Amino acid sequence: MNDIIIKNIKSLILPKKSVHPLKGKEMDELTIIDDAEVVINAGRIIYAGPSGHDFQAEKEMDAGGRIVSPALVEPHTHIVHGGSREHEMSLKRQGVPYLEILKQGGGILNTVEATRNASFDELLNKASASMTRMIQHGVLTIESKSGYGLDRETEMKQLQVSRALEEKFPVMMKHTFLGPHAVPRDKDSDVFLDEMISLLDEVKEIADFADIFCETGVFTIEQSRKYMTAAREKGLRVKIHADEIDPLGGLELALEQDAVSADHLVAASEEGKRQLASTDTVAVLLPGTTFYLGKNEFADARGMIDAGGAVSLATDYNPGSCVTDNLQMIMAVAALKLKMTPNEIWNAVTVNAAHAVGLGTVRGTLDEGDTADLVIWDAPNHEYIPYHYGVNHAYQVIAGGKVIF
Ligand code: NIG
Ligand code: FE
Repeated sequence: MNDIIIKNIKSLILPKKSVHPLKGKEMDELTIIDDAEVVINAGRIIYAGPSGHDFQAEKEMDAGGRIVSPALVEPHTHIVHGGSREHEMSLKRQGVPYLEILKQGGGILNTVEATRNASFDELLNKASASMTRMIQHGVLTIESKSGYGLDRETEMKQLQVSRALEEKFPVMMKHTFLGPHAVPRDKDSDVFLDEMISLLDEVKEIADFADIFCETGVFTIEQSRKYMTAAREKGLRVKIHADEIDPLGGLELALEQDAVSADHLVAASEEGKRQLASTDTVAVLLPGTTFYLGKNEFADARGMIDAGGAVSLATDYNPGSCVTDNLQMIMAVAALKLKMTPNEIWNAVTVNAAHAVGLGTVRGTLDEGDTADLVIWDAPNHEYIPYHYGVNHAYQVIAGGKVIF
């Protein structure tokens, strides 16, 4: 006898499982099955497909003619941090650029101060509130970065809070060390980078990935290469905040370093976008950040996909450049500003997002044997969610076969 059967599903959204991320034209392929049912046992999918079979289960759920998809995957967040930076909104209104605020000791450095001063419990409570909202919005796999400590003690505190979140909530998490996120005041950047590199032995015990902010006035390409090479020598896979504001060649560096993902890429070069197609590195695009920074030039998702690359989407949730924990909102921005199709968007927040955090074959799909992480959406079809923006369409969230929201 199975545990649960979910009946009366209007449509079932089924991204394709593959050992590689979905690339190019494959990103526009999505199986949609009308009049479907899902059978779950011991937390895993037994069946997800057309209705009309004779499955037996202890509990029957009625989806009420709603649609069902795998739970969303959020591959880039800064969920663990202290404080908030609403005061920066008036600076932005006056036209002060993001990097200028950082140069003046604000921005990321402001959050570093607040995160250093916050206790473990304060950080955990604040991140828990965000985590609850993310789950309520249909996300059950979350990547979480450090990077607001810039010293050993606080970076480790952030990573431990991140681990504690995974214990506390029914989610799958990946943890990323982002020690080189900014250069602390009054420090030489090379000296600081070496300090962060010296932490990698300890970091690899607690983190899955190493990340760096490669940007004008933060870390150069050469510094990023040195850090990524050191991290890989320790057995950590790498990620990079690349070509967000200035075109430095961060995407090419990511490909050279076999990065699991290259993130932002608003200013990525044509050559980098072309090379992306021949790799399994996932371009994690963060259009909510471009929107929130008040810019008009968005990442060239169309160029990357049309050239044959793999694209994913994330909130980048952080207290400065994108203050939202609603991935559905990002799906709308991707439709409007990245010109992505609904199918591409769904693949980008499920299976490709899972690939962007090294979980491509275990999250983001509803194949037989997969963990039963899924969402019942109060929407008539899959195109509706990016269309009706700014509200939460998740009706029920099921984690490991249990209804949790
Ligand atoms: O991905 N760009 C660098 N890091 C974050 C923002 C961090 C912050 O402003 O606090 C990002 O946008
Ligand atoms: Fe980020």
